[in-house]
Amino acid sequence: MASVKPGKRSRRTSELVQEAKPARKRSNDGQEDFNQIPALIRQTAGSSPQKPPLEVLKRASAKCRACDLWKQATQTVFGDGNASASVMLVGEQPGDREDIEGKPFVGPAGKLLREAMLAAEIDPHDAYLTNVVKHFRWMTAGRGKRRIHKKPRQSEINACHPWLEAELEAVTPKVLVCLGATAAKALLGSHFSVSQERGKVVPSSLACAVVTTVHPSSILRSPDSDSRRREMQSFVRDLRKVAQLIRSERAKPSVAATT
Ligand code: URA
Repeated sequence: MASVKPGKRSRRTSELVQEAKPARKRSNDGQEDFNQIPALIRQTAGSSPQKPPLEVLKRASAKCRACDLWKQATQTVFGDGNASASVMLVGEQPGDREDIEGKPFVGPAGKLLREAMLAAEIDPHDAYLTNVVKHFRWMTAGRGKRRIHKKPRQSEINACHPWLEAELEAVTPKVLVCLGATAAKALLGSHFSVSQERGKVVPSSLACAVVTTVHPSSILRSPDSDSRRREMQSFVRDLRKVAQLIRSERAKPSVAATT
């Protein structure tokens, strides 16, 4: 599992699950345990299916302790949506609402994302939503001790990566959308620049088409209503390209139909 590096699709999860190497901890900061996730999936899957289905992965992820974030989070927030969705959208990490409800994108950023998807004519029932990191990292702010988002550390992103790989392998979306820099760097490499590449199809073996765009919470942070409207329009424009890619991928004959 130590070979799983963000930015690369490494070996198939099913191979990883079938391996039974002794747990190897790596720790600059004592946090990642790269073998824990395949071991958890193996335990939960029982007869170790070649490709663990999403329900198995989700159940296994509830017990994940591969980094320390579980200690301050309410629960693991695994991905959610159609298990054979055409499109997978990947954000950074759950926020306060997601942590409480146990589902991704149910807070303000999720509401904005859904509005933009509808405006772009992406069917939410044909989508799977997830995050790079599955636990909420937060700090308190203000007198009310509101929990506010804190960016995940690279070690936490690395530790969580096998879950994202397993989701990609289970869903096999035709189109993959990275929402913001954390998702783009985790899946496409640390030098990837969303500002240069947003809305373009990026060469990658992760899906038939991979596109990056901004994270919806960056739109919520716009300084005024005019810039927020402009940012939303650009976001919808990027998602319209995604909708077009979904339509063209769906129109292609499937491999099974051509053989
Ligand atoms: N931001 C994310 O990146 N993911 C969520 O699930 C919610 C907010």
